[in-house]
Amino acid sequence: MFEVFESTESQVRSYCRKYPVVFSKAKNSEIFSVDGERYIDFLAVAGSMNYGHNNPEIKAKIMEYLSEDHIINALDMYTDAKEEFLLTFNEKILKPRNLNYKVMCCGPTGTNAVEAALKLARKNTGRTNVVAFSGAFHGMTLGSLAMTTDRTSREGASVPLTNVTFMPYDNSRLDSIAYLKWILEDDHSGIEKPAAICLETLQAEGGINVASVEWLQEIRKICTEHDIIMICDDIQVGNGRTGYFFSFERAGIQPDMVVLSKSISGFGTPMALLLMRPELDIFRPAEHNGTFRGNQLSFIGGTAAINYFVEHHLDEEVQKKAVIVEKFIQEEILPLDSRLSYRGMGLMWGIDFTEINPALALEAVHEGFERHLIMEVAGRKDAVLKLMPPLTVPEDILREGLAIVKASVEAALK
Ligand SMILES: Cc1ncc(COP(=O)(O)O)c(C=O)c1O
Repeated sequence: MFEVFESTESQVRSYCRKYPVVFSKAKNSEIFSVDGERYIDFLAVAGSMNYGHNNPEIKAKIMEYLSEDHIINALDMYTDAKEEFLLTFNEKILKPRNLNYKVMCCGPTGTNAVEAALKLARKNTGRTNVVAFSGAFHGMTLGSLAMTTDRTSREGASVPLTNVTFMPYDNSRLDSIAYLKWILEDDHSGIEKPAAICLETLQAEGGINVASVEWLQEIRKICTEHDIIMICDDIQVGNGRTGYFFSFERAGIQPDMVVLSKSISGFGTPMALLLMRPELDIFRPAEHNGTFRGNQLSFIGGTAAINYFVEHHLDEEVQKKAVIVEKFIQEEILPLDSRLSYRGMGLMWGIDFTEINPALALEAVHEGFERHLIMEVAGRKDAVLKLMPPLTVPEDILREGLAIVKASVEAALK
């Protein structure tokens, strides 16, 4: 059944090994195999389908655009699709949040926007070092990978990954704020002053580690005091995932740069953006060029997704669904074994098997798949079972999926 994939496609393929089936169709939070088997989606294509598969309101706009022979790719030339996206993003997302950012259209993947942020932070400050955090995931190209901590990914680089100093993330055994202050203030700390501090407010791949509001505010303060650029990687936890459009909103802070990708295009088509304070916008024309910096279908989908987010009050929806998930985990999952713990917010939750046996998280993924639920693992030793449905998941399917999570955890614990 998988012959052509196994004989022809590279060994590097990964997700397909966990979900060995040929998929064909998808609707909101359900995916269907070529045999018509139904699966509930608690992965949302790694956070790129926040608005649901084939969201009808977004799809209608894309179909309309396609049917009228509009331009599809245009490098970074001016198009009406881009104009409408920029206007909508500014009016409906940035302005209501008092955010004043220039928007840079990067190459289509998240990691390209991270690279752009790194280059621009270094160019602005004249410094090369950056601070990132243990548990971070920022992408697979060399600059982003240098800030990514998992060993398997780093080993893929085959060259030294340099110019990054790692600090412990919030809730580590070490007080990272005190440590950070010390390395910046001690002229014998031996660590170069960084151009930027790059962080996720909630480390997704790192195991659903939620930074506290106080910690985020302290980092913001340190960046301001020491003239360091604060970069927030909102690629996975932006676009409403945490119950806010931007994940940093809950801390009342404004990063100097923000990277967005995955669900920003609304429909699963590629797009990545770097947002920056206007005075940081110093790249010369073409200094971070690329062919695919402006997929017009992504602009059309992105505009429709913003309208969907605002009109359906998706942030409030997510906060309501968060209560359902957390209550279920507390009442139905944790009693299964006192060594289980959990973390999360919005529609991003993790069940941690570390204290029992890390391997059981993957076991639960397999058990879930048997029961037609798609989930992923995350974190150190892949010990965290990660739950991340589309934000638009209907409540009955959310509850159906959660019941399967329970059955899968039970089966893994046996
Ligand atoms: C937080 C974060 N940053 C960056 C990336 C890289 O994005 P991409 O895979 O589109 O290059 C990811 C991907 O999962 C991510 O979760």
